Amino acid sequence: MKILSIETSCDETAVAVVEDGTRMLSNVVSSQIDIHRRYGGIVPEVASRQHMLSIVPVYEEALQSAGLVLQDMDRIAVTYGPGLAGSLLVGVNFAKAVAIAAGIPLFGVNHMEAHVYANWLAFPIDATDTSRFPCLCLIVSGGHTELQLMTGHGQYQLVGHTRDDAAGEAFDKAARLLNLGYPGGPVIEQAARRATGSLALPRAWLKGTYDFSFSGLKTALWHAVNKQQIVDDPELTANAAAGFQEAVVDVLVQKTLTAAMDHGAVCILVSGGVAANSRLRERLTQESPITVLAPPLSFCTDNAAMVGACSYFSGTPSSPGGPELDVLPGLSL
Ligand code: KG4
Ligand code: ZN
Repeated sequence: MKILSIETSCDETAVAVVEDGTRMLSNVVSSQIDIHRRYGGIVPEVASRQHMLSIVPVYEEALQSAGLVLQDMDRIAVTYGPGLAGSLLVGVNFAKAVAIAAGIPLFGVNHMEAHVYANWLAFPIDATDTSRFPCLCLIVSGGHTELQLMTGHGQYQLVGHTRDDAAGEAFDKAARLLNLGYPGGPVIEQAARRATGSLALPRAWLKGTYDFSFSGLKTALWHAVNKQQIVDDPELTANAAAGFQEAVVDVLVQKTLTAAMDHGAVCILVSGGVAANSRLRERLTQESPITVLAPPLSFCTDNAAMVGACSYFSGTPSSPGGPELDVLPGLSL
């Protein structure tokens, strides 16, 4: 089954052609990072305008590099939430137009679930293979930080979530405080590699829950920056970046491992933009007694191939679809 897959929930305009959920025939991503960098974060109106400009060329390139035409597609899958309303609208309306014009079934996909399925794309197994279940999914992106127990395709139980900032959002805000640029995750990680020490920062354990909180950590960094003139000193900045990264990773790793053991998970699946963080990947892999899967970096950050994989494995005729499909910016899993 060939699926034309479309993703525009945030600041990447992405279209891919995915065959049978795991074979990527093309995967085109047009990133707006350079445009948003000058504002230090994503400007929603700029993002949706940019999606409007990019969606047709990205779609044409995706079909062309797959060597296929629209009529070869068996299904169209599009992210309909969660995300920025104006950005989601561009992808969903484009997908509807193409689906109606060509008479191809349209399926809506949950963006967070698509992140999870990046692991089926990267580590393919048969759709009937249930050996991965139950697995504990750590979904860590710019907008979400969640622990979900996945008991089968499309079946989730929320185990824990952030009570304030998402982990990626915390990285982005910390990078701004340290004057390191945008997006925060990669620049904090690079700065941390140059560290000669590590700034001591607090961790919010929220004992007795699998929930997260990163806003106190951000405030602690703000106080340290104000007190110690950190941003004028490259060494102190690197040490602060290392301390911040370690504090976030510490909590993510410990909560994930505890939740996985307590719920009898047979493996851990990490996904979302923050899953690109090498310290997080390294510590989870070293400290987990069960298998840890994390997609290659290009499948951690937003892309459309994961949308196609998700639709193949988890999409059912009851998934929202057809001309009635509408965006749901606050959609949960
Ligand atoms: O999944 P994603 O591409 O978009 C959303 O769905 O939000 O995630 C983007 C987030 C940003 O906050 C970015 O700072 C973070 O992922 N990120 C990282 C790294 N690469 C991207 N965070 C930590 N370490 C990284 N290497
Ligand atoms: Zn994402």
